[in-house]
Amino acid sequence: MRAVVTGAAGFIGSHLSAHLLDQGDEVVGIDCLTDYYDPERKEANLATVAGRAGFDLLRADLTTASLPEIFDGADVVFHLAGQPGVRGSWGEDFLPYVSRNVTATQRVLEAARAVPTTPKVVYASSSSVYGAAESYPTHEDMCPRPVSPYGVTKLAAEHLCELYRTTSGVPTVSLRLFTVYGPRQRPDMAFSRLVDAALAGRSFELYGDGEQSRDFTYVADVVAAMRQAALSSWTGVANIGGGSTTTMNEVIDALSALVGPIDVVRRPAQRGDVRHTAADTTRAREGFGYSPRYSLRAGLDRMVASRLGVGTTATPLEVAR
Ligand code: NAD
Ligand code: UGA
Repeated sequence: MRAVVTGAAGFIGSHLSAHLLDQGDEVVGIDCLTDYYDPERKEANLATVAGRAGFDLLRADLTTASLPEIFDGADVVFHLAGQPGVRGSWGEDFLPYVSRNVTATQRVLEAARAVPTTPKVVYASSSSVYGAAESYPTHEDMCPRPVSPYGVTKLAAEHLCELYRTTSGVPTVSLRLFTVYGPRQRPDMAFSRLVDAALAGRSFELYGDGEQSRDFTYVADVVAAMRQAALSSWTGVANIGGGSTTTMNEVIDALSALVGPIDVVRRPAQRGDVRHTAADTTRAREGFGYSPRYSLRAGLDRMVASRLGVGTTATPLEVAR
């Protein structure tokens, strides 16, 4: 497969690029290394794939680059570039959410349409489109009602994918990813902060009572799902979750067992945070064979081992359910 990966220098994009190369695919990565977090971390992410046969990187901004030239000859565009982060999307900080999530996605779709051999577009959507879901586990036909500005922009981009799919002949897949974790997780996310706090002897700021829960999904399951979706003839919107739901209090206990005691400081619940997420993954399973392989325990073990630079002693793969 000849693939373009937007956001290749990011957390998930760098794992996806490595996974595609492992399978023998060719990868052109696009990233402009935004300063949402330290670009040095993105350079380090890139170093995990730089120099590998079949990998090229274009340092370009999706909101200005001439994308049809880049997409020409590609079988699939994995569109992960964007402005992540739920809690920081309010107020004056909203502008990059609009340009990096909505405008950039519209340009990706227009470019895919303009290329004679229209590539499939696999978009990294988000569980945050659901907001306070009607029921759990949540399936894709439930009405999305985001509770953060970030979620609104991810839903707008997903609607653009559906619009180009149903009216303009661009085959699109929008995967609603549920809180992704693993090595190189973004530094604003909970697991990354928890591990850093434990290893540095610093406090972890817990937002709210810790009884909020997430369907945490290990990054290797996510990138495998993205490739499976690209290779199948399936199009549409599907959930990608880890297969179990865990509260933050339970996560803190599990991580403490792996890395030692964590000093937790309680802070108020954050505006825009959802209380619970849980994915019904029936559609992804039936559509393109998705089945999560990593339990939270197996994924955490790998994340911590990678951070410490040691091999894992746990059973490598465990069925999540
Ligand atoms: P990340 O910030 O690590 O990666 C995003 C990358 O996109 C960054 O390297 C950034 O420099 C790049 N980028 C942003 N705007 C760009 C532009 N206009 N042109 C070129 N490059 C640009 O984030 P991540 O956690 O790896 O998330 C990747 C995608 O998955 C995002 O779209 C995010 O909304 C989505 N997502 C993430 C999660 C999660 O739990 N991490 C869950 C659901 C959805
Ligand atoms: C994550 C990603 O950040 C989003 O980009 C993504 O779109 C979203 O998942 C998704 O699934 O759609 P979130 O669930 O908030 O968002 O993931 P974390 O940042 O890891 O937070 C998990 C929980 O820990 C939240 O309840 C949060 O409030 C809490 N948290 C986070 C803390 O208590 N302290 C922190 O320092 C960070």
